Amino acid sequence: MTAGKEVGVAFIGAGVAAEMHGRGLAATPGARLAGAFDPVAARAKHIASRFGGRVYQALDPLLADQEVEAVHILTPLAHHIPVALKAMQAGKHVLIEKPVATSVREIEKLQSAAKKYGRVCMPGHNYIYVPSLLRAKRLIQEKKLGQVAAFWILYNIAHTEKIAAHYGGVLHAVCTHHAYSLLFLLGRPVKVSAALSNVHYKTLKFEDQAAITCEMPDGAIAHLWCSFAVNDPTNDPWTVIYKVLGTRGGLTYSWNEVQFEDHGGPAWGLPCYEDGFRGEIDHFINRAIRRGEPPLSTLDDAANALRIIEAAERSAKTGKKQTMTS
Ligand SMILES: NC(=O)c1ccc[n+]([C@@H]2O[C@H](COP(=O)([O-])OP(=O)(O)OC[C@H]3O[C@@H](n4cnc5c(N)ncnc54)[C@H](O)[C@@H]3O)[C@@H](O)[C@H]2O)c1
Repeated sequence: MTAGKEVGVAFIGAGVAAEMHGRGLAATPGARLAGAFDPVAARAKHIASRFGGRVYQALDPLLADQEVEAVHILTPLAHHIPVALKAMQAGKHVLIEKPVATSVREIEKLQSAAKKYGRVCMPGHNYIYVPSLLRAKRLIQEKKLGQVAAFWILYNIAHTEKIAAHYGGVLHAVCTHHAYSLLFLLGRPVKVSAALSNVHYKTLKFEDQAAITCEMPDGAIAHLWCSFAVNDPTNDPWTVIYKVLGTRGGLTYSWNEVQFEDHGGPAWGLPCYEDGFRGEIDHFINRAIRRGEPPLSTLDDAANALRIIEAAERSAKTGKKQTMTS
């Protein structure tokens, strides 16, 4: 890459997440959308009409395009790994949506490929890239809160079965955000226990609620909560709240701290959500690719987030507390 030249980016997958990535990329200095590919061509066309670039008819011409230096993998989970491996082999840097993979082994394959081809492979852990959480991390690191004792992430949004069917169970689809956030802010737990329930689905066979308790090595306890069953009318109604309490202080952060009218899609009127994508994409382009800096949340974190989710799954199934595996 020549210094000063814009980084050409292509989107692989042009569904719901592509809109947020398009907005984030448009706000990122030094990058431009070269184009998008989606087997449903109308979706790629829509994204190109909104954010620029061309429509690729297939993955191979996209990967052969020398204007494309980096790709965002925005496909359903089942396609993440084969597409990411192919993209790195073709010399592209990769930003890959969460959850990155279905197994730790798959994440290790990405790590090997990134090393082999000298490419950046960064997980799309967007929630941590908002200014309030970057400040939270600094305050925790500087011990401004004293010794952290308690940590909460509350996430509540009622989804119909039709919408929920798009995502799958909340444990993997949503609590991955909780898990990488915990890793970013406090580190890795030693023990995990969890309960899952289905409050309102009639036909879907997976959980609409998850409660995970993580015990940290220093005695702190983290509570990770997600519900697709209920709104929180006290919080208007989409709730994403982080709270950290320590022996000398505490902090709280809410997605509802700013809102504006934007009915284009879920949470699009909550700039904290949009800021996460902006921060993530700016970091990917201007720090990880241009300066060789590591992501704030790495593939190791993606592997540990998956280990937390898998431990929670085992705990919910067996009723027993799980020790985190390495
Ligand atoms: N970080 C977040 O906050 C966030 C939010 C929503 C979705 N996501 C993640 O983004 C990814 C996509 O989710 P979505 O909600 O946009 O799904 P979606 O179904 O709306 O869009 C996925 C698109 O990928 C296309 N596609 C399927 N196979 C493909 C392939 N091999 N190559 C190219 N395109 C392909 C589909 O046609 C579809 O248009 C998932 O991993 C999801 O977990 C993350």
